[in-house]
Amino acid sequence: MATWSAPGKIFLFGEHAVVYGKPGLAMAIKPRVHVTVRRHRNPAPAKSPYIDQCFRELGVRGSVYVSSQMPSSAGLGSSAAVTVATLSAANDEFGLGLEREEIAAIAHRIEQTVQKGRASATDTYVSTMGGLVLIIGDSRRRVLPVNLNLVIGNTQMSHSTSRMVELVAEERERRPNVISPILDAIGALTLEGLRKLDEPRELGRLMNVNHALLDAIGVGHSSLTRLVGAARAAGAFGAKTTGAGGGGCMIALSPRGGKTRITSALDAAGGRAFVTTIDTAGVRKEHDA
Ligand code: PMV
Repeated sequence: MATWSAPGKIFLFGEHAVVYGKPGLAMAIKPRVHVTVRRHRNPAPAKSPYIDQCFRELGVRGSVYVSSQMPSSAGLGSSAAVTVATLSAANDEFGLGLEREEIAAIAHRIEQTVQKGRASATDTYVSTMGGLVLIIGDSRRRVLPVNLNLVIGNTQMSHSTSRMVELVAEERERRPNVISPILDAIGALTLEGLRKLDEPRELGRLMNVNHALLDAIGVGHSSLTRLVGAARAAGAFGAKTTGAGGGGCMIALSPRGGKTRITSALDAAGGRAFVTTIDTAGVRKEHDA
């Protein structure tokens, strides 16, 4: 029996723009997903297509127990975390000798298969490696991690990432002269944000601009507008949608000592809020229960 855990992720900057090769900045976050894999000749069918695909890819058979505090289908990378933790636990249980880079690559392939070719490598890479990751085109590079006071607000409106990606593609085709410069500007914001990671006030302003630009490319939602507004009114330095938009989650950058106020404001505005911090470990082995 082997138990491994993997973190979720948020986009600090650059979602959607990364699909067009522009820079984006993603961060591994708590909570983690825990997965236990046990060798088994005739396991019960897995409840998740991601887990099924993990065993198919590795050519082994086992039973799986998943425990997660992370909301699913909310844009926090829970399916990537399940995939990465399952692969790592199976790798351990069956002594397959796969390195982290290989786990990340296989996890990406699995997400692409299950999501029919629409998954970027961001979620699986960040969940495997942990920390703060700069994405530019096909390159993914870990940058120096920082401690940010972040609150996540889940709108509890489920969304489809692939539908939102499609929507932006249609919008860009319809109005290339408008949408392309906005995607460029989002990429520029990412690079500017990277330079301001230790200046929360500035960083918050950049997050606000990023949120407005996400609205401008058509991935806004009234529930996100409401939560972002509530977080700012409660004293956040900045707030934005994280992930594909159209529902899902937003993040707020809080002053030190301001997280409780922001959390209450988000809950009062109809969201489900929780405080998060960076996870620098990535996928890791846990003690077996
Ligand atoms: O909703 P999420 O967390 O899976 O984020 C999607 C991010 C996009 O940039 C919209 C798509 C992608 O694959 O990077």
